[in-house]
Amino acid sequence: MPAPTAAPTALLLENIHPHAVELLSAAGFEVRTHRGAMDEAELVEAVQGVSVLGIRSTTHVTEAVLDRAPGLRAVGAFCIGTNQVDLAAAGSRGVAVFNAPFSNTRSVVELAVAEIIALARRLTERDDAMHAGVWDKSADGSHEVRGRTLGIVGYGNIGSQLSVVAEALGMRVVFYDSTEKLALGNARACSSLDELLAEADTVTLHVDGRDGNAGMFGAAQFAAMRPRSMFLNLSRGFVVDYAALRRNVESGHIAGAAVDVFPDEPKAKGDPFASDLRGLRNVILTPHVAGSTAEAQQDIGRFTASKLRDYTLAGTTTLSVNLPQVAMDPRPGTRRVAHLHHNVPGAMARVNQLLAEHGVNIEGQLLSTRGTLGYALTDVAVDLPDGVLDALAAVPETISTRVVP
Ligand SMILES: NC(=O)c1ccc[n+]([C@@H]2O[C@H](COP(=O)([O-])OP(=O)(O)OC[C@H]3O[C@@H](n4cnc5c(N)ncnc54)[C@H](O)[C@@H]3O)[C@@H](O)[C@H]2O)c1
Repeated sequence: MPAPTAAPTALLLENIHPHAVELLSAAGFEVRTHRGAMDEAELVEAVQGVSVLGIRSTTHVTEAVLDRAPGLRAVGAFCIGTNQVDLAAAGSRGVAVFNAPFSNTRSVVELAVAEIIALARRLTERDDAMHAGVWDKSADGSHEVRGRTLGIVGYGNIGSQLSVVAEALGMRVVFYDSTEKLALGNARACSSLDELLAEADTVTLHVDGRDGNAGMFGAAQFAAMRPRSMFLNLSRGFVVDYAALRRNVESGHIAGAAVDVFPDEPKAKGDPFASDLRGLRNVILTPHVAGSTAEAQQDIGRFTASKLRDYTLAGTTTLSVNLPQVAMDPRPGTRRVAHLHHNVPGAMARVNQLLAEHGVNIEGQLLSTRGTLGYALTDVAVDLPDGVLDALAAVPETISTRVVP
């Protein structure tokens, strides 16, 4: 009979949502939590004996940390971005990394919709006047959004969801994406950004943060927008030239703007905020909160924790950001071997040959590759005979191997 295995240990930092603790505890993990982030030295000490680590955006998982965390199998970034994790170093050490790429999509969409309406009604000006004791009852500059044309730049998770909600409000939707995308509802794809700018009276950016997008929206693009149109950026700060936006708001060419993201954002709550856009009328500024809602935090907790659980207990790598993606239904009466290896000819042949030499029959097997990595799940009908796991680990192409769970 195989010796009972100790419960896997999860360490969750940075005040991760309690849903994650509940989910991992229910799956048999011993869960430790820590409210704050950790620097490199603290993390190295804390991660000893830990098999899954949960972080948010502040803790950095560097190559040095990974080198000194031999028991670590997976890192969950309980947020959207994964820049804080050295993904290549993690992959080459057999550490899977997961995030929550669309847990806050709806939150961003809802803020965008709120701002599109608020700009069209000049709500912030009305609100400011009332708080200053001025009753400025007037329809001047106020519009319905129904029948107006929304131009969505970047038709990914957020852009396409916004498209659906905006159409429900009666807006016409046109979009431009640098890759071919399925148009939802009655939305229409434009073949260039210029075509979109010529048609839309509200332009909203939802592109990703790739390097090539730095400064993609500047003086020339604002000039190409229709007079008195509105502009939103809830994507990344560095994609827009905000000095150019200021000039266009001051000249009246742009009638209003909503901006949630900035090239240099203050590090901590309460820090001072400087921007070319401060002090402008009908310009709504928010501190990178489009995706920050209780619902999004809760979903991030559930989503990322479930990925860590499924990887630990079944070897599943669906939506991993650094390993090849493999998911295979559990097969009753079998044991599962997870094997990560260098993606070179013959690696799988050697693994299967070795199993055959030890009389281990393969009941099911799934392989996927990603760049230099290959990952296979193999279900076998018997407990692995002594020495097989060590022999698999000794295959020259092996990066890591384990029996799951
Ligand atoms: N403000 C917030 O709180 C917040 C929250 C979540 C996401 N975001 C940001 O929102 C953006 C969109 O997120 P998502 O989940 O929809 O990403 P996504 O990757 O699903 O979609 C991005 C889309 O933009 C397209 N694209 C990239 N560069 C382009 C360009 N130059 N022109 C046209 N299309 C281009 C891509 O092909 C893709 O379809 C990201 O930058 C993300 O960081 C912000």
